Amino acid sequence: MKTTSDTSARTWRVTAAPRRLPLVGHALLLGRRPLEFLTSLPALGDLVELRIGTKQAFLPCHPELVQKVLLNARVYDTGGPVKEKARPILGNGLITSDWADHRRQRRMVQPAFHPARIATYAGVMREECAAHAATWEAGKPVDISDAMQGLTARITARALFSTEMAPHSVAEIQRSLPVMVEGAYRRAVDPTGLLAKLPLAANREFDAALGRLHALIDGIVGDYRRTGEDRGDLLSALLAARDDEDGGQMSDQEVHDQVITLLLAGVETTASALTWAWHLLAAHPEAERRLHAEVDEVLAGRTPTYADVPKLAYTQRVFTETLRLYPPAWMYTRMTTEDTELGGHRLRTGTDILISPYVIHRMPGLFADPEDFDPDRWLPERAKDVTRGSYLPFGAGSRKCIGDVFGMTEATLALAALASRWRLRPVPGVAVRPRAQMSLTAGPLPMVPEPR
Ligand code: HEM
Repeated sequence: MKTTSDTSARTWRVTAAPRRLPLVGHALLLGRRPLEFLTSLPALGDLVELRIGTKQAFLPCHPELVQKVLLNARVYDTGGPVKEKARPILGNGLITSDWADHRRQRRMVQPAFHPARIATYAGVMREECAAHAATWEAGKPVDISDAMQGLTARITARALFSTEMAPHSVAEIQRSLPVMVEGAYRRAVDPTGLLAKLPLAANREFDAALGRLHALIDGIVGDYRRTGEDRGDLLSALLAARDDEDGGQMSDQEVHDQVITLLLAGVETTASALTWAWHLLAAHPEAERRLHAEVDEVLAGRTPTYADVPKLAYTQRVFTETLRLYPPAWMYTRMTTEDTELGGHRLRTGTDILISPYVIHRMPGLFADPEDFDPDRWLPERAKDVTRGSYLPFGAGSRKCIGDVFGMTEATLALAALASRWRLRPVPGVAVRPRAQMSLTAGPLPMVPEPR
């Protein structure tokens, strides 16, 4: 280990991760047991060097260093192999665009997430949550992962494409999206890049799903352009957007790329976190009791509306704490665009930086009893003591999640609407273990609905 000082005269511990193998470096450990491996590293240093294959990467394990990376998007841009593999799927949208283009894109997409728009999308969320609550049967197990994925896919599809969207299009998105997410993840972690080229059934299914989604989005964008009316949905907002610097509009292809990006970024993340929330509530009866008491008092049997969201404070704390323990975006990456310095350590252009909210959220120095599920740590009087940069489920800086309020609103309404009618019981003997895939999922998770 070496200690370094940067301009703020602070001393940082910079170290190399142990158990590095020739040629593969830490790639096998990262592939097989990423969460165990990564959470073992903060004890070793503030900035830990890894090798993925022969390529150097760094994991900042101190919130100040994480902030330095995330708040300087020009020097620490999106990048690396994952981004290159995502481009053929997502095109050039918010996730894949580089710094200069991202700034323009973000200015154009942001109005679609204005609070007044979120209030409209909440109407769709409310309807879909109420409809979903009516599909469960007492005592009949549901795969809660699958159920939450279906719910968030329908909500996002309808928020994007208005309430009049033909039901078959919503069903198509619900069908194709999981195939795409799965395939995109397999491609992202394939170090050879060959997997996508093999004549496998999974590849054919992926290509077909992607083709159907592209065609569907093209058709809908074309329809909207022809009528030109604002339907109050996300797509209308994207089509109406004007760049306030140069007055330009997005082309159809640019709108298309944003739509597919929003679908890929918004559905599985919220669904994974909701699944974990149900699991945690079932394992913590006192938290479940308090959530039930709140929804009963606030809603008195009604389906929740957007106006109820601020009143559902405990429900929101449950979700906030769920995102701490099981952040769906468990790791995201950056790449240096110039030679720079982090924690007093020289980084060459093209160095990969790994940011892991999962690692930071479980550091004992940052959260008391970090493994405990304690929604009340987010009470305002306690939350004010949380160190800046230590809670990152939505990222930070100019690339912070554009759907954070959308996702929080959706999850609060879903938890309240379903918990006001149902209690979910675990199925005995089912072991639950986080799987670090495209998002941090629980895998298939059967639970039994009991009417309340
Ligand atoms: C609980 C739910 C969600 C979580 C945990 C989450 C997490 C994140 C994180 C960590 C990032 C930043 C990644 C980085 O810095 O590289 C991000 C970006 C993004 N998210 Fe979310 N997200 C959620 C919901 C949503 C929803 C509902 C939408 C859209 C409807 C969405 C759309 C996006 C987009 C487009 C980006 C890229 C933003 C940019 O680079 O400007 N997310 N999300």
